[in-house]
This record gives sequence, structure tokens and C-alpha cells, in this order.
Amino acid sequence: MLELGVNIDHIATIRQARKTYEPDPVTAAAMAELGGADCITVHLREDRRHIIDRDVRILADTVNIKLNLEMSIANDIVDIACQTKPNQVTLVPEKREEVTTEGGLDVAGNYSNIESTVKRLHDAGISISLFLDPEEAQIEAAHKLQVEAVELHTGQYALNSGAERNACLQELITSGRQIADAGMTLHAGHGLNYQNVIPVARIDNMVELNIGHSIISRAIFIGLTQAVQEMKQLLVIAESKH
Ligand code: PXP
Repeated sequence: MLELGVNIDHIATIRQARKTYEPDPVTAAAMAELGGADCITVHLREDRRHIIDRDVRILADTVNIKLNLEMSIANDIVDIACQTKPNQVTLVPEKREEVTTEGGLDVAGNYSNIESTVKRLHDAGISISLFLDPEEAQIEAAHKLQVEAVELHTGQYALNSGAERNACLQELITSGRQIADAGMTLHAGHGLNYQNVIPVARIDNMVELNIGHSIISRAIFIGLTQAVQEMKQLLVIAESKH
């Protein structure tokens, strides 16, 4: 069954707006789990603008489903991953001035740095996913690194509409095939919402979708558990009417 990873960074963004203790992303993780999430995703950014070290430590101890830590290849962040041992790390590019992750990781162009991070994380027993644009050379580089999974960046698909969106979907389908043929697990995420998720969920070999902004936005009005339930229901529909 298609797995739903719920990104709870925005809960921590609200907390950090006041630098207080609420709302607690640890509570959010439990509520998302109650709603049927298969995975909790958090991004420990170098500037700690939302998730902080304490969250990762407590989540690593308390999350009963899969914990996916998004992060850059900065050494001190890799140290934290090796200490807390989430089930999975997703390596993403990170720029301080960006509002959210803007593009996929340039594995092909930054191969040796990423290779040493992959080795450290594998030595710590952590499964690795790379967040990549749907490009052949990037996926080939990921395969060479022997990572377990690739998360395809769906941002362009989500931003476009009509024929352009369809062209983006075709690229995702082609890349998805390349990833599966190489023996890696296929994930996708970024910009997915209740309106655009189904075609991505129906891509052959899709295993995990990571969704944050749209679920947390809906949760403000209807509660997190229900917002997760409704997204999970769409994934079930996508699979059953394929
Ligand atoms: N996947 C990755 C690698 C991301 O960086 C993000 C954003 O933090 C997401 C998924 C979730 O994106 P969104 O918040 O647009 O659903």
C-alpha cells in the first residue's frame, strides 16, 4: 500500500514564531499517526528555523511509525542523524534564504561530498533517500551511490497546469521507471495537495509520498488527524481505481 509521509515542520514554524513550547511537533506526530500516517517527516535545517535538535531526539524515541529526517549534507547535521538514527534520511539541497526546498540535490555535480555523507549514514545503519529532480543523470548518480530510494521533486508538476503539468507528469513517470529499474524505491513529494495528488500516487512503482503544507493548512480548520485521514483516503482511492 502507498505510504503517506506527513511533514510536520510547519507545526514547529508556529512554535518558533514565539520561541515557546507550543504547538509541539511531538504531539503533531502522534496525531498524524492516529490519522493513518505511515511516516513522519521533519527537516532539521541548518538555521533551525522550525524543527530543532530536541524535536529530532524526542521523535526518534517516540515515533512508532517510520521517521524520515530531511537534511543537508552539513557535517554537524549528519552527526545528529548518526546519533539519533532515524529510520530514513532524505538528503536535500539547502539554501539559507529559501522559503522551502527549491530544487533537487545535484548529486552528479557534487558526487564526492555526497558519497562521503552516504557512507557515514550507511555506516550508522540509516536508509537513504535522495531528493532529485526527474533527470536521468541525477538518477544514474544516485544508483551509483547505492542509496535505497529516490524522492522525485514534484514541485514543477504542482506549479504548472494543463499541458505543462501533463508534460511534468510524463517526466515523473519516466524517471520513476528508471528508479525502479535500477532497484531503488520510488518516493515523491513537494507541492502535493488534495487536488493534484492522485496522478502522482498512480505512477507505477510509487511507494511513499511526503506531504506537508497542504495537510497542515487543512489541519488548521479541521484538525490534523482528520486532515491526514482525508489525504490517506485519496491514496487509497488512487490505488483502488487504477
Ligand atoms: N519532500 C521534501 C524533500 C521537502 O523538502 C518537502 C518540503 O519540506 C516536502 C516533501 C513537502 O513539501 P510540501 O510542504 O510542499 O508538501
